[in-house]
Amino acid sequence: MKDHVRADWASAVLVCRKCSRKLDGGFGPDGEASLAKVLRAALGGGKGRKAAFGVVEVDCLKICPKRAVVVVDTARPRDWLLVAAGTDVAAVVDRLRPGSATVVPTASHSPAEAGA
Ligand code: FES
Repeated sequence: MKDHVRADWASAVLVCRKCSRKLDGGFGPDGEASLAKVLRAALGGGKGRKAAFGVVEVDCLKICPKRAVVVVDTARPRDWLLVAAGTDVAAVVDRLRPGSATVVPTASHSPAEAGA
């Protein structure tokens, strides 16, 4: 049995599934798509391990913002993003691409600040 499998992911992004469920959409042109779904489409290129980025929905991250979704970029795990419903996902995508210095128009949360 293999001890690993190769993936084409440049990075992995963790998206709180429970935040998304509470919003019941909130993103995309009509505001009816989940953030994970819109991010997968916007980050482009393939599905599953063949995608350019991994977008993985995870359980509650214990931040639980109102009308926003917690996102952790595993390439920058010290700053978690709180992506407000209705945020232009293009700005989030710019922030997630490697080497990007673009500031996302959302609040950010550092777990260390909260004592977590
Ligand atoms: S519901 Fe998303 S962090 Fe708790």
